[in-house]
Amino acid sequence: MELGHSPVMPREIVDAFSTCLPGLFVDGTVGLGGHSEALLDEYPGSQILGIDLDGKALALAEKKLSRFGANFLPVNGSYCDVGEISSGKGFDGVSGALLDLGLSSLQLDTPDRGFSFRMDAPLDMRFGDSGDVTAGQIVNRYSQDELANLIFAYGEEHRSKKISAAIVRDRPISSTYGLVSAIESAVGKKKGRIHPATKTFQALRIAVNDELGNVKHGLEELLKVIRSNGRLAVISYHSLEDRIVKNFFRSEASSCLCPRERIVCECNHQPSVRVINKKVKKPSKLEIEANSRSRSARLRVVEKI
Ligand SMILES: C[S@@+](CC[C@H](N)C(=O)[O-])C[C@H]1O[C@@H](n2cnc3c(N)ncnc32)[C@H](O)[C@@H]1O
Repeated sequence: MELGHSPVMPREIVDAFSTCLPGLFVDGTVGLGGHSEALLDEYPGSQILGIDLDGKALALAEKKLSRFGANFLPVNGSYCDVGEISSGKGFDGVSGALLDLGLSSLQLDTPDRGFSFRMDAPLDMRFGDSGDVTAGQIVNRYSQDELANLIFAYGEEHRSKKISAAIVRDRPISSTYGLVSAIESAVGKKKGRIHPATKTFQALRIAVNDELGNVKHGLEELLKVIRSNGRLAVISYHSLEDRIVKNFFRSEASSCLCPRERIVCECNHQPSVRVINKKVKKPSKLEIEANSRSRSARLRVVEKI
């Protein structure tokens, strides 16, 4: 995530790759190119394949990183397809890869994308133009139970049943403000620090973009393209994503995946990574003060064996 031109935890990201760059690198969520820029500045001679679903963000990143010439190669696509994309571009056995999950400040701050409950816009929420489901379709077509389950599972919103009942009552809902008004009628207006629509909007965004499915699949695909001693770093912004990353890294680093009750290992699992930071890294107080959107960031790094 970035605010203006500030990527989240830039120093920590640069440091995470000090053992393996300069070299070939995949920025799987290039966004506006903030992390790619920091890495190319720190490790001259590196070549970065910058992937993003969002063609508009990619065009801005390409412009911003034009001073690096052919060392920055933008590709409009999903990090889940990194195997095909990287081999097509001659990026075989990369030295490092980064996922900075969630949405960019460009997406959040562009009114017509529908990500923000602070601006009135059509209910879209797709990261790229090619996704075939919009938030509006989910809001207007899902049953009340399906909506409640989705808002509970992806938003961790315990008032999901009340909210889904209000949504179904107010349908058709075509705009972000229409959705906010249904949510507020169910749970009241903002009282504390968190806006009552925050969790429902998060849930819809995750569902529209299949974010959790992509993280699971993407981590596997990224590990495949990284060479031995290369590194993979992931910044996540909510517990659902971070849990997937933590569990994936933990099981890839483990020499046994047998159930606990089994006394003798029968799986012969071979670890494929070393966990670099056992304790998750968080942004400094200073960074959170300067960029409040960084406050929920969690960084995990592994090294391929
Ligand atoms: C938090 S922003 C990245 C910001 C970036 N690190 C920077 O410094 O500007 C996350 C980006 O990931 C992109 N994204 C989300 N899911 C994706 C996927 N499956 N494949 C590629 N990009 C994806 C979004 O479009 C968004 O631009």
